[in-house]
Amino acid sequence: MTALDTVPTLLHDDTDWWRQASVYQIYPRSFADGNGDGIGDLRGIISRVPYLQNLGIDAVWLSPFYPSALADGGYDVDDYRDVDSKIGTLEEFDEMVAALHGVGIRLIVDVVPNHSSDRHEWFVEALAASKGSNARERYIFRDGTGENGELPPADWTSIFGGPAWTRVPDGQWYLHSFASEQPDFNWKHPEVREDFLHTLRFWSDRGVDGFRIDVAHGLAKDLGEVLPSKAELSAMPKDGTHPLWDRDEVHEIYAEWRSVFNEYTPARTAVAEAWVETPERRAKYASPTGLGQAFNFDLMDADFSAAQFRDIVSDNLAQSAVTGSSTTWVFSNHDGIRHATRYGLPPRAGRPGKQGADWVLAGGPEDGIDRALGLRRARAATLFELALPGSAYLYQGEELGLHEVAEIPDDQRQDPAFWRTTADDRGHDGLGRDGCRVPLPWTRSGSSFGFGTGTAHLPQPAWFADFSVEAEDGAEGSTLELYRKALRLRTELQSAENLTWDEDLCGIDVLAFERPGGWLSITNFGADAVALPEGEMLVSSAPVETTADGHHQLPGATTAWLRRPVS
Ligand code: GLC
Ligand code: CA
Repeated sequence: MTALDTVPTLLHDDTDWWRQASVYQIYPRSFADGNGDGIGDLRGIISRVPYLQNLGIDAVWLSPFYPSALADGGYDVDDYRDVDSKIGTLEEFDEMVAALHGVGIRLIVDVVPNHSSDRHEWFVEALAASKGSNARERYIFRDGTGENGELPPADWTSIFGGPAWTRVPDGQWYLHSFASEQPDFNWKHPEVREDFLHTLRFWSDRGVDGFRIDVAHGLAKDLGEVLPSKAELSAMPKDGTHPLWDRDEVHEIYAEWRSVFNEYTPARTAVAEAWVETPERRAKYASPTGLGQAFNFDLMDADFSAAQFRDIVSDNLAQSAVTGSSTTWVFSNHDGIRHATRYGLPPRAGRPGKQGADWVLAGGPEDGIDRALGLRRARAATLFELALPGSAYLYQGEELGLHEVAEIPDDQRQDPAFWRTTADDRGHDGLGRDGCRVPLPWTRSGSSFGFGTGTAHLPQPAWFADFSVEAEDGAEGSTLELYRKALRLRTELQSAENLTWDEDLCGIDVLAFERPGGWLSITNFGADAVALPEGEMLVSSAPVETTADGHHQLPGATTAWLRRPVS
């Protein structure tokens, strides 16, 4: 009997469960540590299933838990069909699936197909094999340039900074779009393609409901004999013909994957992480004949601005109407600065979006940030998000109102995006992503704030105590209780995938929209209170005010949901 046989039937009959799901991202090494070794694990997750159930989410997205040397937080995978022994076992994985399914929560796992780790058996084999061998063909090896091949095949930089080519002992070079421990696969090789189909079936057979596809736009590459220079590459349009990114033929791969997903009931789902040039190009990943859904990171990049939010929502809803997919919303994830922090900082001068990046770079000076305002805005933004049609992807810790931890000593940082950019060639992202990956505080005190019985693998600041689950559980007005209430209401109020802007209520600093069934969400982005319309108050991200003559007012940086009579 597999874990799947024990799953309650409700999980089998809803094929559209993903369309408007609330998905909670777990970064496993920082969620809960079951055995006290400082690293979060599957035991820890299993022990927190009641917490997840109580939170009211529909699905968990689990970031990589595969064997890994952690050169990139687990996105350097040694073996795609196993569990890292520091995190657990396959038996514990099955137990986790059963525990989640038992309370009606689906599971999405991360697949990392653009690159393996340099400890993957194929890469080890490739290094031992000779030039031109089949083993080398599974990756992207080239001879160097210069008189004796001592220069890289091209002057490309990796996404994390530093060179994108690394030399091996016999003189050849391999391509790594990210860290040097992450060699890129050659997706023209049939064994690579076959192996990933095997991986998708392996996890689907174990009851996994869907997949999050890492760097989905990177797999197909077309490198001719003569490689373009970095400058030439960056001048090339990303219209399907770029040698490295978002090539049209990548969708042939996903069409094959789709037929694997459709072997299952309900069909397995997928969401693409695809950084592409235009909304139209993103739509290809979201096609029902491909991965089916794609992340839209627009809100992660936006400032706390009514105009920016409105454009983003309108554009993305229009796109999803074209693809037939549902749209996705994200404010925080394991790659970005937590939104409570971004919104406590001024927007960047002359450069809309990415509010807060400079502050992290500066090490998080306390006089630069208004933490209370940031959190207040983040709560308003989340309540706005949870009223939107489509799926909401939430990142562990945002339900506690956690801030980014900027004050991590350099020698304790783990992110290659930090270690590979000491030359400052990447500017604003130079401190890396460790600050949103600090282990969660579960209790006010004790070793690692209840993360585990040992220490935490990244240092937790003292202020984590006030943001712990223990501090917020049952506390009126806490961020945790706000998320719980909003998620429960969202399930209850969920309706057809559209909205109507309420033009009478919208203004320069106000956005209001109504979902079918009389569900109204109104957000005040400004500082001054605005009048609230009639209706039953369901939830608000901060207390609403009542004037002397009994009228309800929505204060600044606040969202409220109201139920209005359906006309
Ligand atoms: C994706 C992941 C990120 C990782 C990178 C390389 O962008 O979200 O965390 O570093 O891919 O795998
Ligand atoms: Ca552990």
